[in-house]
Amino acid sequence: MVSIETPAPVSKFPVRLFSITYAATDALLFEFRSHDGWTLPLAPPGAHIDVHLPNGLVRPYSLVSTSPYVIAVKREAAGRGGSAWLHDHARVGMDFEIGSPRNVFPLQENAAETVLLAGGIGITPIYAMFQELERQGRKVALHYWCRSPEHALFRAELEDRIDVTLHYSDRGTRSSVAAIVAATGLQAELYCCGPERMLADFFLATSDRPPEHVHVERFNAPALAPPAAGFMVSLARTGVELAIEPGRTILEILIEAGIDVAYSCEQGMCGACETKVAAGSPLHRDSFRTPEEHDRLGTVMVCCAGSRSARLVLAL
Ligand code: FES
Repeated sequence: MVSIETPAPVSKFPVRLFSITYAATDALLFEFRSHDGWTLPLAPPGAHIDVHLPNGLVRPYSLVSTSPYVIAVKREAAGRGGSAWLHDHARVGMDFEIGSPRNVFPLQENAAETVLLAGGIGITPIYAMFQELERQGRKVALHYWCRSPEHALFRAELEDRIDVTLHYSDRGTRSSVAAIVAATGLQAELYCCGPERMLADFFLATSDRPPEHVHVERFNAPALAPPAAGFMVSLARTGVELAIEPGRTILEILIEAGIDVAYSCEQGMCGACETKVAAGSPLHRDSFRTPEEHDRLGTVMVCCAGSRSARLVLAL
């Protein structure tokens, strides 16, 4: 008999928006606190929460602070609506639901040396890590790339520190990721969060380093087109059969069928929709895990995966 497990659903709880603060050009800080007697779960540096917006969108945001929960949100003109909604419609006093913190970007807190690299809004998990390492008195260096001083979040806290370098593209004070990595000891733990081009530079610069010392989180990914070819999905627990038409995602069809499935980014980045595969051969398209990891774990991200086989059987 095949043992079938599914990842635990992400639990939700209510919070109230206590403050909105200007952080930098196009970036705001949103502070959520518990109310009605709820206690916010503890969250390690690097963790993120899913914010359930009243318009039905669910969006993941890294926590800058965990007590209370604070997220930084940059208005993304080319985004899919989450940041624009928060910037334009969120008001202090509004109630939201958020998911329990999840950490896919864990910090090795006992490292002898840590180098943190952030680009743009990618500073949010990196800043939380920086604060924690500073609090512990650890050896840490932070490099933060952004367009100008006006675009730098936490600028007042980061400027004029010897363990922080701010790289501004409008001032010509920008060093390359490769140069920073090359100047870092081989045993250092390296963390990077930023746009895709920065991550590509980082991957190239660290390709000869032990993978266990190299840590990355994406906050944005190239838009993924839905799978081009159709296939069938069967649900092992109920026997329900679903046709995934070309151009649709498994997640869309599951939601339309009223199947309770966790999800957040819908772009293969966050891992929220990870589902066990009971049979069939998925075509993995997410950036959360490598295909090898999926094969080992027997999982698939239903928000973006296609299928190599005519039928996938999911442990749902
Ligand atoms: S919803 Fe984020 S990976 Fe699928």
